[in-house]
Amino acid sequence: MAVKAIARFILGLNKLLTSSYPILPNYFLELQYVPQKSQLKGYSMKQYSTRIAIIHWLTLFLFIAAVYLGHTLDEIEVAKDKMSLYPAHFIIGDLVLVLTLIRAYFLRKDGKLAPVEGGSAIANKVASGIHHLLYLLLIALPVTGMIMITTTGLVEALKLNDASKLPDLEKFTIHEVHGTLVTILVLTIGLHALAALYHQFILKDNLIRRMAIKRFKD
Ligand code: HEM
Ligand code: HEM
Repeated sequence: MAVKAIARFILGLNKLLTSSYPILPNYFLELQYVPQKSQLKGYSMKQYSTRIAIIHWLTLFLFIAAVYLGHTLDEIEVAKDKMSLYPAHFIIGDLVLVLTLIRAYFLRKDGKLAPVEGGSAIANKVASGIHHLLYLLLIALPVTGMIMITTTGLVEALKLNDASKLPDLEKFTIHEVHGTLVTILVLTIGLHALAALYHQFILKDNLIRRMAIKRFKD
């Protein structure tokens, strides 16, 4: 920050001097701010980076698995049968959280893509809003899961390997919050996937390429 401020001050001074005395050479022209490579890359990239694309599609599979396991857990009547399924649901759910955080970090590092070509400003804003909402929900949902298992006594029952100590989760509001967030996330993903399919098959602009793992030369 300080370096930038000093550079800006010198540049300003140099500009003032060269405009007042045109005979003076513009020594500091080369000092002008050059955007970092990663920032430039962000707007010249036509595809998300390979690592972001891999996490995107991996998240889709893990999300489906987490929803399937969550619903199965909810439907199982015999408490003992739930014991072995819980850890799988927790691990997959937490993996989604970790991958989302890593992906957000990569997105900052690898640079964002320019908005979709030919799209209206409003459509681009809506798409970006939905992407942000997806991130928010992908973080909030596993967090509510973790709050649920630690505040209801579920972890203790699992540690003791005692099915009789499993809490009745339906009695806790956090269980309802977790379930509601799942519904909102499923609907948001549905909307997002429909938009992608609309681009692919109606607009035929091959939008899916932006999120392809395979690299394209053009
Ligand atoms: C992507 C992440 C996740 C998804 C998609 C997901 C999905 C679900 C679904 C669909 C249910 C059933 C809800 C219902 O039918 O009302 C559920 C229940 C549950 N989830 Fe998750 N979940 C995720 C993450 C987590 C995490 C990280 C934890 C804990 C560490 C967790 C703990 C639970 C618990 C304790 C239940 C209640 C199961 C029961 O009724 O016995 N979830 N989850
Ligand atoms: C069939 C399912 C899916 C399809 C066809 C699909 C397709 C796409 C496409 C084509 C893009 C690039 C859009 C652009 O460049 O503006 C994208 C971006 C994105 N997708 Fe999906 N997607 C699917 C599922 C998911 C799921 C399950 C999630 C998360 C739970 C998700 C989260 C995102 C996010 C956050 C972005 C913005 C890029 C980023 O920040 O990483 N998508 N998706």
